[in-house]
Amino acid sequence: MKNTKKVLLATIAAGSMLALAACSGGSGGEGGEGGGGLIGVAMPTKSSERWIQDGDAVKEQLEEQGFKVDLQYAEDDIPTQVSQIENMITKGAEALIIASIDGTTLSEVLQSAADSDIPVIAYDRLIRDSENVDYYASFDNFVVGQQQAWSLTNGLGLTDLEGNPAEGAPAGPFNIELFAGSPDDNNATFFWNGAMDVLEPLIEDGTLVVKSGQTDFEQAAILRWDGEVAQSRMEDLLTADYSDGSQVDAVLSPYDGLSRGIISALTDAGYAVGAEWPIISGQDAELDSVKAINSGEQFATIFKDTRKLAEVAVNMAAAILNDEEVEVNNETDYDNGVKVVPSYLLESQIVVKDNITEVLVDSGYWTEEEING
Ligand code: BGC
Repeated sequence: MKNTKKVLLATIAAGSMLALAACSGGSGGEGGEGGGGLIGVAMPTKSSERWIQDGDAVKEQLEEQGFKVDLQYAEDDIPTQVSQIENMITKGAEALIIASIDGTTLSEVLQSAADSDIPVIAYDRLIRDSENVDYYASFDNFVVGQQQAWSLTNGLGLTDLEGNPAEGAPAGPFNIELFAGSPDDNNATFFWNGAMDVLEPLIEDGTLVVKSGQTDFEQAAILRWDGEVAQSRMEDLLTADYSDGSQVDAVLSPYDGLSRGIISALTDAGYAVGAEWPIISGQDAELDSVKAINSGEQFATIFKDTRKLAEVAVNMAAAILNDEEVEVNNETDYDNGVKVVPSYLLESQIVVKDNITEVLVDSGYWTEEEING
């Protein structure tokens, strides 16, 4: 993959930066004279497994660097997240790492942070409409969307997992329905645009048919990434557009939690895993969804290694506090409405049944027992 070398080099660079920071007695480095400052870490919700993994990984890695950590979850409630961040500022946090719920609602509290010279790192989700966002740590979210679409075209026999046309591909047409993420999450548009970059030409040439006609982001979006809302939208689509005996062949789902809702709707409507079962995408490699891939209910997920993302964000915080150069690899794509936020983007991987062990078990993300237990 094209960026692997860059990522590797940057990781090494970031690693040596931290080693340097540790020796230089900077604000947070291990053995630093400051004894390690406090870093505030704001996460959106514990209702999704990935954010628990993120929070744990960020906390652990910050503590390894000698920092103290105030880690808070806001259960997807915006005022709660705002007041948690206010508290972090009051407690004297030296830096903030924030995965926002709604990317547009933090401007005021970030102004308070800026007034106290507290640097802010947007974690995974870009914080919009504020100049007080110093860095952004994330994945290449457009590519994540493309990967979700390629997993569908691969499952349908049209392409390989990198989107290259398959030999002897079936002509279709295949019925597909489309889901998008939460409209207040900047990532949701990136995932959608990436996926539609792949799917739109196939819809236009008739290989794919969206029977519901719902092909706009606004129609497909699921507020707060809520699986139950996805389930009821899928139920509505099945009733309205597939009661004539036709079948859904594929469902674009941008997140495992939505995929599980979609799977429930299909099961309730009488679909059973087998030849007629649709190809369904996902994201996050959540344990229940990895199990669902094993059992054939879900075709694929996108693995974004939260440990690596945590490492990038922790390195950014340490570098800022130690007056070191912060490693970024993208200074063009993430305009938050006020400025382009310097970003470090990691690579994601498609997980299908065949590579679960290689990608998830061998990397230590899940154990064989957790997946099969
Ligand atoms: C993250 C995804 C996640 C989704 C729902 C997005 O911002 O990038 O990994 O699936 O939120 O939690």
